[in-house]
Amino acid sequence: MLRTHDLNVTQDVDSLFHPYTPLAQQRETGPLVIKRGDGIYVEDDQGKRYLEAMSGLWCTSLGFSEQRLMDAAAKQFQQLPYYQLFNGRSNEPSIELSHRLIEKTSHLGMAKAMFANSGSEANDQAVKMVWYYFNSIGKPAKKKLIARERGYHGVTVMSASLTGLAGNHMDFDLPIGDRVLRTACPSLHHYGRPGETEPAFVDRIVGELEALIAREGADTIAAFFAEPVQGAGGVIIPPPGYWDKVQAVLRKNDILLVADEVITGFGRTGQWFGCDTYNIRPDMMTVAKALSSSYLPISATLVSAKVYEGLTQGSTKNGVFSHGVTYAGHPVCAAVAIETLKIYEERDLVARTRALSPQFLRRLLAMEAHPMVHSTRGVGLIGALELVQDKATGKTFDPASGILARVQSAGLEVGLICRSLRDILAVCPPLIITEAQIDELFDKLAQSLDLAHADARKAGLMP
Ligand SMILES: Cc1ncc(COP(=O)(O)O)c(C=O)c1O
Repeated sequence: MLRTHDLNVTQDVDSLFHPYTPLAQQRETGPLVIKRGDGIYVEDDQGKRYLEAMSGLWCTSLGFSEQRLMDAAAKQFQQLPYYQLFNGRSNEPSIELSHRLIEKTSHLGMAKAMFANSGSEANDQAVKMVWYYFNSIGKPAKKKLIARERGYHGVTVMSASLTGLAGNHMDFDLPIGDRVLRTACPSLHHYGRPGETEPAFVDRIVGELEALIAREGADTIAAFFAEPVQGAGGVIIPPPGYWDKVQAVLRKNDILLVADEVITGFGRTGQWFGCDTYNIRPDMMTVAKALSSSYLPISATLVSAKVYEGLTQGSTKNGVFSHGVTYAGHPVCAAVAIETLKIYEERDLVARTRALSPQFLRRLLAMEAHPMVHSTRGVGLIGALELVQDKATGKTFDPASGILARVQSAGLEVGLICRSLRDILAVCPPLIITEAQIDELFDKLAQSLDLAHADARKAGLMP
């Protein structure tokens, strides 16, 4: 019920255009206004406290009250609140941050970092770099980009075109142009054939990728964009062997690999990068979110020495590398990101994530005992549950039944924020979570599912 006496609510409904929100429904329900944060918890404007099991949007790895990040921002604001990087100008936080990022990724082959503000922009500029690179090195026919079903790369015109989710295309007239080729999502659960084993599934979809490349012509294909673990598409954990086989195909066909580490970067999978966890050697990487624990917006596109060399040749021919955004390498955002990386190191948060992961995955797996949970999957501190109406047949809920939405609203009732992605419930808590809080998270998740289950039974949807 809309709280019409509440100024937060009425002004929000009157003036705020919410991203990723059912617009008409929002006018009826109004916002959930989060007012303050404390560790892994947030509190709304009514004083209700929630365990934030999604780290906001898979991003606040250090929780919601890290004083050191606030201090780093305040200090940099006082020293230099803005300076740009165009035309060889620089600022000290950007220099230090690029150095630290390359130090952390040089074993993966990265050599240079270009900053931007969001994951979408980092991917967008990665596409431009890919095209510029092949033009510069004399292979201008290499233009097409391969991206996967259920991939999520953002919402700008180009990154949304790479994204493989129907909702991001519908009525936005996307994907743009005809340069994006779609290939399979590596989820046996969603796309396996009856009786297909995981190795057979991997061989089939990698074979389909090879066939796609042969059909289109390798000399027309520039790059393959992929998240090491697909996040917004449903936390899709790649099956064993998948990444090795995909990389072999890409290498054979001179196709660049762009690893979108916007969710998986900085410890989420139990290693610094998803590329470490899955033995991926990319040509380019995009990072954002946990780079600054999302306290301020900052992202980066990292490129290998080979790619940078190609881009340099093009820039020499054209005079200038004519790309960059006003806030790229904003010194305050960069200062916060530096402090974030220092905290990851000082607290050894990546090793800590690895150490906490078995408990997290054990509790996740135990959710499979619930009548609404078909299966679960996870790695590091990210996981998902597949919700079903009928466990035996795998029949999923009709979204119109309201049960999937009920799981989220029940979560709010019991003080838990998690994320429904159609039939999938995702959890991705801040990396600072403790053992006791992991138990609290899953206890609350079980309570939310029980409430939704009770409603499903009342509605005659489940026995
Ligand atoms: C893997 C991945 N890439 C890119 C993006 C887009 O990032 P942003 O929302 O900062 O534009 C996201 C956002 O969730 C993401 O998960």
